[in-house]
Amino acid sequence: MITFDRVSFSYGSRPVLNGMSFSIEETERVAILGGSGEGKTTILKLILGLLKPDSGRIWIDGIDITEKKEEELREIRTKFSIVFQEGALFDSLTVKENVAFPLREYTQMSEEEIDQKVRELLRRVGLEEAIDLMPEELSGGMHRRVAIMRSLAAFEPRMFLYDEPTSGLDPVNANIICELILNLSSKGTGFIVVTHKVFDAFKLADRFMFLKSGTILLDGDRERILQSDLSEIKIFLKELHFPQFQGGTRNV
Ligand SMILES: Nc1ncnc2c1ncn2[C@@H]1O[C@H](COP(=O)(O)OP(=O)(O)OP(=O)(O)O)[C@@H](O)[C@H]1O
Ligand SMILES: [Mg+2]
Repeated sequence: MITFDRVSFSYGSRPVLNGMSFSIEETERVAILGGSGEGKTTILKLILGLLKPDSGRIWIDGIDITEKKEEELREIRTKFSIVFQEGALFDSLTVKENVAFPLREYTQMSEEEIDQKVRELLRRVGLEEAIDLMPEELSGGMHRRVAIMRSLAAFEPRMFLYDEPTSGLDPVNANIICELILNLSSKGTGFIVVTHKVFDAFKLADRFMFLKSGTILLDGDRERILQSDLSEIKIFLKELHFPQFQGGTRNV
């Protein structure tokens, strides 16, 4: 369980989160929605202890991580598989070396075991053939699939964190990534997906948290988003060119 208790955070003088509170169970499938700069990526970094709140507390599985030191945070981080928004792969390493990286870093596997594990992970996403390619030789969709498999190579995560996993992808590749995310969670491992793409969020999540001005404007299921009278949410849906979702009750 992830709990934010009245968390505030600023980058210097720029306030981002303003006394935010919520709890997320590790089996939940949550989408964090909101416009650019609303603090979505910041929330993921706070969960991992990469940033510290200015005030408030953050709890992970009953442990208050707010004051934890780097060594203690490393263990907390192994609970999560994280795919960051940009720079997901190391440009100078092949696909194989990218996926092998966490195995070399966190496990005692032999070269042969690493090779087998990397091939198995790539096979699961139909990319074994791409093992010797460089990241620049991959399409956007392939790049994301490799990054997702690398994120879970070394640990069995308790929860997946995805930052804009479908941004910049065409609808076919975005759908492949959504299917992969759902597949990886099919045994009940939850995820938090940060996105500004409502359409993808609806494919993936059961719970939606909508951020605005450092607070959670709305936290609820799909119907609550679709039926919301809040102008910020209506505009958000409209801007994404899904006019059929505006304030309606249409099922998707
Ligand atoms: N390292 C930083 N130093 C200063 N300001 C930052 C830093 N990182 C983010 N910010 C600012 O904090 C705000 C929140 O950033 P954050 O990256 O969390 O937004 P976001 O919701 O993920 O946006 P996007 O949808 O564009 O990815 C933004 O205004 C951003 O410019
Ligand atoms: Mg972001």
